[in-house]
Amino acid sequence: MDKQSHIQIHETAFFTSSFRAFNEALSGDEYAKLWLNPKTDAWIQEYLTEVSSEETYTHCLRNRFFLETIKDLAASKQIEVLINFGSGFSMYPFLLDESLIHIEIDKPEIVNYKASKIEEWQNEKKLPKRDLHFVGVDFSEDYKTKLLEQIQQIKGDKPCFILIEGVLFFLDKAETDGLFSFFNLIQTDGDYVGSASFQDDLKSSTAFKRLLRFLNKKVSKTSESDYLTLQDSYYKSLPNYNLIDHQDYFSLSKTYNNTIHLKPDLILNEHFYVLKKQLQS
Ligand SMILES: C[S@@+](CC[C@H](N)C(=O)[O-])C[C@H]1O[C@@H](n2cnc3c(N)ncnc32)[C@H](O)[C@@H]1O
Repeated sequence: MDKQSHIQIHETAFFTSSFRAFNEALSGDEYAKLWLNPKTDAWIQEYLTEVSSEETYTHCLRNRFFLETIKDLAASKQIEVLINFGSGFSMYPFLLDESLIHIEIDKPEIVNYKASKIEEWQNEKKLPKRDLHFVGVDFSEDYKTKLLEQIQQIKGDKPCFILIEGVLFFLDKAETDGLFSFFNLIQTDGDYVGSASFQDDLKSSTAFKRLLRFLNKKVSKTSESDYLTLQDSYYKSLPNYNLIDHQDYFSLSKTYNNTIHLKPDLILNEHFYVLKKQLQS
């Protein structure tokens, strides 16, 4: 495979931004377009043709759902800090009230690049200033002790929302379990987690087979078992957390008046969960 046609896993973050930029009214993200670039544009066209043309709408609705959820919780003063695990190039800090504190965690190369672009765009007045902290971490490595300290220094005892979207699919089960037990360590009673993942039945869909073919051609040779899916029961059985909201592409399409174009078998249907930490008294 020649280098030009090879996509790095972290470059999927550019894909997500491009999808959000395609329909700003639906995604609620007026800043995603800042990340558009010709290289991603070419890949996106191939991806939409070869995998699923519904992907623009699925990504727009994911952004919209978490944006509105976090906005409401911030407005009612239930959260003061947003911690985004695998934050990629998402633009929530600039779409939310300036009083929120943001901690963005991703691989070092991603957060360093994002921090430099954000600074450039803020200097050019394309983005407003925000209370924004970047932390470079690889969830496949031993990160917990140092990251906990860094988060506590910024967050103190303020209530928080932890977001993890578009990430778990690329992690293994042990890394995922490790992250959720780490969330429990960071959070106190009344804090929230928002998570996006696919369910097991995704793997029998035509859309997934097409995705696997695309990833094998463009990213690296992988098999079905390399991609993590989670059932509702996973979220329902997390110690100290209650599942308070569960949506998917189809339910959000109804909420936000989105027209579904393809048959379900041709759509990568992601599920979205909101959990609340509630310690038993
Ligand atoms: C598809 S992007 C989604 C980005 C963002 N959450 C969003 O929805 O716009 C996946 C992100 O997960 C990050 N990621 C994947 N594996 C990771 C790991 N082992 N450690 C840290 N970040 C990881 C990638 O670098 C990338 O930014």
